[in-house]
Amino acid sequence: MTAFKTLGQFIIEKQADFPYAKGEFSRLLRDIGIAAKIVNREVNKAGLADIIGSAGKMNIQGEGQQKLDVYADEQFIAALRSGGECCVVASEEHENPISIQSEVSKNAKYVVCIDPLDGSSNIDVNVSVGTVFSIYRRTSTSGEATSADILQKGALQVAAGYIVYGSSTMLVYTTGRGVNGFTLDPSIGEFCLSHPDIKIPTQGRIYSVNEGNYRKFPEGVKKYIKYCEEEDNETGRPYTARYIGSLVADIHRNLLLGGVFLYPNSSSHTNGKLRLMYEANPVAFIVEQAGGKASDGVQRILDITPTELHQRTALYCGSTDMVDKIEEYLQE
Ligand code: AHG
Ligand code: MN
Ligand code: MN
Repeated sequence: MTAFKTLGQFIIEKQADFPYAKGEFSRLLRDIGIAAKIVNREVNKAGLADIIGSAGKMNIQGEGQQKLDVYADEQFIAALRSGGECCVVASEEHENPISIQSEVSKNAKYVVCIDPLDGSSNIDVNVSVGTVFSIYRRTSTSGEATSADILQKGALQVAAGYIVYGSSTMLVYTTGRGVNGFTLDPSIGEFCLSHPDIKIPTQGRIYSVNEGNYRKFPEGVKKYIKYCEEEDNETGRPYTARYIGSLVADIHRNLLLGGVFLYPNSSSHTNGKLRLMYEANPVAFIVEQAGGKASDGVQRILDITPTELHQRTALYCGSTDMVDKIEEYLQE
């Protein structure tokens, strides 16, 4: 029999490294893993069950909600609520943070920011989607959690992770000591360690950007895209374009193979499209922990001081040398 390590075993083994509220933190991660399995079950049935299509509502971003957006949001919040380790959740699907303080969680020490279902335009067409989350320590010491508990810099994250519901389902997370990936074995219903200590190559050959927006991009980005398309034997160009349109899946591929992901600001999205608190920050923490880099073109994503829960940012992230090159073009 091949020896394998489940997510639950791994979390317990690593809990000794964690300096603060170890037991609670382990339970919090485990609860997220359980909700991920429930969401995975529904994602896998999309097409069979009455789970695809629009929920007929708009979320706070003015974007149409899909049924799975709503389902995933409910499942993650329910898991965090019953776990009792988290006092407040900020979700893409809700305008305001949701206080989940209860008798069980009155001493809860953690704050979670989450995009419960990322890439929702890909659900109905059987293309990979994901979940992405960020965990912070609560800063206030009593009463209801405040917005200051949520609006912390990405650099203060204690953990971040994503789940990619793809040709197989994987959970990848970091607590600031490297990045580990777990693949869901559906026959036993467990995430098993399959990608220990993931490192992103410093240079890759993949660039991922929605080139349909080319005309609206800043000059520096246009020049970088042209650079990717040029022929050059020494640097292996032209690079390969790969873009799924689900942030989590695009980042996951580039993390394993090397490459760069770009979602620039543009004339129609002046601050970019992706959300800082529950898309850019967790992805940036993971990519940095794997040895890569994440920038908004000028500064490190993790150093941005947030002012609003749903604020957007440009995002350039992946292999360090590639992000450096983009910054050079943007600063020219
Ligand atoms: P969400 O489904 O959570 O709203 O996120 C969609 C995001 C992200 O996953 C992806 O990288 C990006 O939107 C794709 O945007 P374009 O369709 O503009 O390329
Ligand atoms: Mn998203
Ligand atoms: Mn989403």
